[in-house]
Amino acid sequence: MTLRKIPMPSVTSIVARSYPDNIIGVDGQLPWHLRTDLLHFKRVTQNHAIIMGRKTYESLGRPLPNRMNIVLSQKEVPDAQSVRWARDPETALILADTHSILAGQKELFVIGGETIYKLFFKFINRVWLTEVFCGPLNGDAKFEQVFDSQEWYPVSERDYSPAENDDWPFRITCLNRRKPLHRMRSREEFLAVDPTVRSRLDSLFGASRVGAGMEKQPQATKQFPMEL
Ligand SMILES: NC(=O)c1ccc[n+]([C@@H]2O[C@H](COP(=O)([O-])OP(=O)(O)OC[C@H]3O[C@@H](n4cnc5c(N)ncnc54)[C@H](OP(=O)(O)O)[C@@H]3O)[C@@H](O)[C@H]2O)c1
Repeated sequence: MTLRKIPMPSVTSIVARSYPDNIIGVDGQLPWHLRTDLLHFKRVTQNHAIIMGRKTYESLGRPLPNRMNIVLSQKEVPDAQSVRWARDPETALILADTHSILAGQKELFVIGGETIYKLFFKFINRVWLTEVFCGPLNGDAKFEQVFDSQEWYPVSERDYSPAENDDWPFRITCLNRRKPLHRMRSREEFLAVDPTVRSRLDSLFGASRVGAGMEKQPQATKQFPMEL
C-alpha cells in the first residue's frame, strides 16, 4: 500500500546582514537598530511558524508574539504557549510543518542565527535579504551565502533611507530559488511526532481523496525591540 502524501509549506529565510562584511550579529545581539526593517520582519513572519537557534531565542528574550516559535537546542527548552523545543533539525521542520498545515499556511520561516541558516539552507526556496549599508563591521555571526543568478532571481528590491529609529540606510531584496524544493509528507510522519493531531489531520488528508488507485499528483506549492 502506498501512503498518501500532501505538499508541505515552502521554507523561507529572513536575514539582515551588513554590507560589505556579511555580519549578522555581535556578542549575541543585532549590530544595529533598524525599526523599519523590524516592522518588515514582523509583517512578513506574523501568523507563521518560525524556526530559530537557541542563541537567537535567548537574544530575543521572549517568544515572538503571534508566531509559533520553534527553538532548536540539544537541551530541552521549556514548552510554553507558542514555543516548541526541537532537539534536531528534522523535528524542527516537522513541528513547523504541522503548525503550518493546521493553520492553513503555505510558508514557514527560518529566522537564524548563523548556524541555523546554514543547517536549513538546502530547504530554502525564498530569502528576504536586508543589506545594511553600515560600512566595515566586526562581528561573530555571519551570513555569507552568495545568490548566484543561475539559481536565484530577485522578485523585488527596494532601497530605504534611514527613517526615524533606523541607524543606517538599507536595501530589502526578495529572492526566489529558480528550482524550488517541493517537500511531501504522509499523515503517519506527523502522527509519529504528535499523535494528538490525528483528528485534525484526518480532514486534511481525507479532503481531496479521490479513491484507491486514483490519487492526484500533488500540485506545486509555491532585550528585544518592541517593533517585533
Ligand atoms: N541579522 C539577522 O538577521 C539575525 C537573525 C538571527 C540571529 N542573528 C544573530 O545571530 C547570532 C546567533 O547566531 P549563532 O549561529 O551564534 O546561534 P543560533 O544559530 O541562534 O543558535 C545556535 C544554537 O542552536 C542549537 N543548534 C544548532 N544546531 C543544532 C542541531 N543540529 N541540533 C540541535 N540544536 C542545534 C544549539 O543550541 P544548544 O547550544 O542549546 O544545543 C546551538 O548552540 C546572534 O548574534 C543573533 O543576534 C542575526
